[in-house]
Formats: sequence, structure tokens, C-alpha cells
Amino acid sequence: MSKDHSRVSSRIPGFYKMSTAVRLQELSRAVGCSPQDVQALMGSDGNGLSLEVADRMVENVVGVFGLPMGVGVNLKIDGYEHLVPMVVEEPSVVAGLSHGAKFLRGDLGIETETTDPLMIGQVQVLDVPDIERAQQAIAAATPGLLEAANRLDPALVAAGGGAKTIETRVLEPLETGDPLGTMLVIHLVVDVRDAMGANAINTMVEKLAPRIATLTGGRVRLRILSNLADQRLVTARGRIPFETLGKGNPLLGREIAHGIEEASVLAERDPYRAATHNKGIMNGVDAFLVATGQDWRAVEAGAHSYAARNGRYTALSRWRITEDALVGELTLPMAVGTVGGVLRTHPAVQAAIYSVLKVRTADELSRIAASCGLTQNLAALRALATEGIQRGHMGLHARNVAASAGAVGEEIDRLAQDLASQGVFDAAAASAALNRIRCAKPAA
Ligand code: MEV
Repeated sequence: MSKDHSRVSSRIPGFYKMSTAVRLQELSRAVGCSPQDVQALMGSDGNGLSLEVADRMVENVVGVFGLPMGVGVNLKIDGYEHLVPMVVEEPSVVAGLSHGAKFLRGDLGIETETTDPLMIGQVQVLDVPDIERAQQAIAAATPGLLEAANRLDPALVAAGGGAKTIETRVLEPLETGDPLGTMLVIHLVVDVRDAMGANAINTMVEKLAPRIATLTGGRVRLRILSNLADQRLVTARGRIPFETLGKGNPLLGREIAHGIEEASVLAERDPYRAATHNKGIMNGVDAFLVATGQDWRAVEAGAHSYAARNGRYTALSRWRITEDALVGELTLPMAVGTVGGVLRTHPAVQAAIYSVLKVRTADELSRIAASCGLTQNLAALRALATEGIQRGHMGLHARNVAASAGAVGEEIDRLAQDLASQGVFDAAAASAALNRIRCAKPAA
């Protein structure tokens, strides 16, 4: 990770209690950049994106849609502190990450590992007269095919990336009545360096397709990137001593650790639970990816297909008890980029990446994304294995309920506290409590 991080502290006590204006000041101080730089997180009109820029980004633009941008605190990854921008509509995600991150700060914090950024482009070949001969022909032509692919992207090659290998796969019909015979799928494996990779890969496979058709004697149909980026993986690992997990009480910590291990094993065995377990992981990953302008649908597709890679959908993470600690590990594909795309145009994304996170490479971004996933998972499992999530969740949701009941200004926090202390959050209770607050208010 870049040495820039050594200046950052991700611990900002009471951050959640500050006004948004003070929070921005504290954020700029903590990451060591100007208030104007972090101000871009909000954009000039408070939504991070002007209509003019939006109109150039997609088609048929009629407006800009706002979502809250929060900042997760307390994260320490590979010895470096990170304040993480998160865009999400669900209450408790940013709070959950910030809370979970406190438990994972021991030693270097979360430790991460990545593979090379290898993405796969697929070429589907049908009606191949002799599959074995076609495979041999592709193998013999591989150096020439790679060279041809690399001629298309000299900048990528100069940066140390480019097409690296070619693999062939034979796909047989799955069932009787399948309309097609055996088909060949060619995988072009490309090191995409700091790009997400879709453009580079799609250009290459489209260009190589006619040669592949000639070499195999078959007919090419699809030529497109695969989102199952199982050669571009990131792993995040965390260790929490029982004493830390139990907030100073090791016996309680051990009990919570047992609960988390039991929750993990259920998700490993049962797809019904794994779907929710993984959703909790993706709460952290996606909120971070949206804030940093990434194609989060691509990462979602990669994560869930990777979770089913052995033919059975399972948990992406695993938590286990060791002698005196709980250890967790999460591995998932991470197709993210720090060049091109929204990064060129979106001022809030630029502020998030360059001013707040200070990351330059896709590798750094992927380590932070996976760490957000592991931390979010821990926060959810710790709550689920103890008091359940509803108390904390509804407590955080209480401000929404208060505003919907008609509370304004300072009334919102008072009413939210009132509802949280009663443990009731329905509209009727909110309206009654608001009346009580107003009646108790001394006349001005
Ligand atoms: C809610 O958005 C996410 C959780 O359901 C995740 C989980 O159950 O692990 C709390």
C-alpha cells in the first residue's frame, strides 16, 4: 500500500455524533487534504454529480439520483489506516463496518493477499468438426494469438499486463433435448493491471474470434468477458483475541466466538443461509464499490458465481475458533479498476479515491473492498450470534421513523432516542411520542 496511508488515522472518536459540516472538516484533517478536496464528496449541489456530467455518463438522462455517502471509520489493513467512503441506502451498514473494524485492529489489522489481476475473455465455438484437433490447433497457435491480442493494447503491455495464456474448455450437452452438440470455449487470460478489464478483454476476444474460427473449423458466437474472475482473487484475514471480542471479558469473547463459528458453519453447509451471509458481506463490499465508482454488478456476479464454484452455493467467508482467538477469512473475485470509467468524470468518486483513500492501484482498492466485506460480515455475525440484529438496526433506523412521523430539527434525535429506549418503532408509537415531546416543550 502507498506510504500516503501512514499520515491517516481512521479513528475519529464521536464521528457519528458530529454535524455533516464538522464531519467533513474532521475527515479532511484526518486524511491530510484540503476541505475543498473532501467537499467534492458532496459536489457543488450536494449530490456529488452535476446534471451536465450525468448527461454525458449514460443515455436519456432526466436527473441525478441521490444516495447517502457515509464514511466508515476504524479500519486498519496491512498496518495502514483507512477511512472508507460508503454509498448505501440501508441504515446500519456504515455503523456496522465502523463497529466491526474496532475488533480487527490488532497487530497489522486485517491482512490481505491478492493474485495477479487476471481476467478471462470467452470465445464460444460451435459446430467444431473435430474437438481434439481444434484444441491442438489452438495450443499450437497460442503464441501468435497472444501476440495478436497484445498488439491491440500496447499501453497495457508497457504497464506489465497483457494477454498471458489461452485455455480451452469442452462443454458437453447437459441434458437430453439440449439443442446443441459439444461446444468449445476458448479462454483468453489477460493481466489487466489497474483496469477493471472489460474493455481490454472485449476488444481482444472480438479481434481474435475470426482466427479462432479458422483454426478450429467451427463457428464463433459469443465473444465476451467472464465475470467469474476466479484468477483475480483477493483474500482478507482477521484475528480477534477473545478478550477483544468480549470487550475486555475473555470468557464472554469465547462465547461470542462460538456463536460466530456456529453461524459460519451453517452458512458453509446451507445455501439458504449462505445467500444471507454473503449478502451481509456484499453490504460492505458494494457500499465501498459504489462510492469508488466501480462496476459493483460485475463484482456481485463474480462473488456469487465463485461461491457456487464447486457445484454447491456456500459461504464466501469462514470463521473458526483457535486457542485464544476467533479467526476469519474471506476470498472473492475482485474486478475493480483505478483507470478509466467513472473515475475520469465523477467528482465525488475522484475525491473518494484520490483525496480520502489515496489509492492509485486496483490492487489496493481490491484489498480495501475485501476488508470491508470481512468487517461487515463480522459485525453482522457478532450481532446475530448475541442479541440479534433488530435492536441495533431499529435503533439506527429510529431517526428515519422520527422524521417520517413529522419530527423536525432537534426533535428528530430526541424522538429517535425515545423510540430506541422504548424499543418500539411503529408509526403510531412515533406519532404519540412526538406529541408528548411537543407538549413537554416549554412555550417559547
Ligand atoms: C442485512 O442487510 C444483512 C444481514 O442479514 C447479514 C447476515 O445475516 O449475516 C444482517
